[in-house]
Amino acid sequence: MKPLSAHDFQKVPSSLMEIKPAVFIKNKLRLFVKRDDQLHPHISGNKWRKLKYNLLEASRLGQNKILTFGGAYSNHLAATAAAGKKFGFSTLGIVRGERVLPLNPTLQFVEDCGMELKFVNRTLYRSKSEPSFFQEININPAGFYILPEGGSNCLALQGAAELVDEITSQLGRMPDYICTACGTGATMAGIVKGMDDVGTALGFPILKGGFMQKEVTGFLINCTGKSYTNWQIKDNYHFGGYAKFQPELIEFMNVFKQEFGIPLDPIYTGKMAFGVFDLAEKGFFEKGATVVMVHTGGLQGVKGFNERFGAVLV
Ligand SMILES: Cc1ncc(COP(=O)(O)O)c(C=O)c1O
Repeated sequence: MKPLSAHDFQKVPSSLMEIKPAVFIKNKLRLFVKRDDQLHPHISGNKWRKLKYNLLEASRLGQNKILTFGGAYSNHLAATAAAGKKFGFSTLGIVRGERVLPLNPTLQFVEDCGMELKFVNRTLYRSKSEPSFFQEININPAGFYILPEGGSNCLALQGAAELVDEITSQLGRMPDYICTACGTGATMAGIVKGMDDVGTALGFPILKGGFMQKEVTGFLINCTGKSYTNWQIKDNYHFGGYAKFQPELIEFMNVFKQEFGIPLDPIYTGKMAFGVFDLAEKGFFEKGATVVMVHTGGLQGVKGFNERFGAVLV
């Protein structure tokens, strides 16, 4: 495998698209969408950002095998499998749960990219950070570059921080708010790092449990040595948890796509955008503020979501 360089990840910046929903106009706000979903057809959104420095590091270490983890509909597994195929890494995915045939569209895609899959039950999966885990699943981790679930580590923060530099140069200044969906919290922490005490980052957790403040703080302290104060977690928009939804979310996403021509995914970006609009409606943003929503991708999950829940998204 030829060593990778930063050049392999060079990209035209994703566009920063202004949209003008009535509620934003009414409150004299400007709203932009950072279209990271368009960075790559399969390594999309925050996955491109989070994988970039990890794959460069794997290459620098001379590792050509990547091992990582995810659920059966994981955007991260899909992106890692596609990146492995594109850049010449072999990939092994440890999947939470049983192998169910036929494979869902995400896992079918992942296998088609050449990723080997190892299914482990949920109890065992929860112990994946323990030293005995690899022995229990009969895999020797030596020789693999190990990417944590979601690709979330300090190198992921470094990649996510770069999207702030792009936004700043596209806008000519730091926006007042940068908004993102949160799963593990690494993307949010990367954005906070990139903002470096200017403006406010807003994170919208898609999991319930109220633990995101702690997760983001953990990434920030561990990776930057400081916790920053210019960020907030908005915990009211998870709709009950991962892949949970209400008809009003689906309605919002379908109207959003129709009005602005931007598809959202139901697990992450749909909930974040719903939250941002609700905050605008409630007068959270001060008049004149500029708000950026980061489209972190995840669109590969729409097909599986429609299959599971009966074609609800257009
Ligand atoms: C499409 C999408 N958006 C946002 C996130 C949240 O990223 P993070 O895990 O870094 O919080 C994820 C992954 O978890 C994702 O797949």
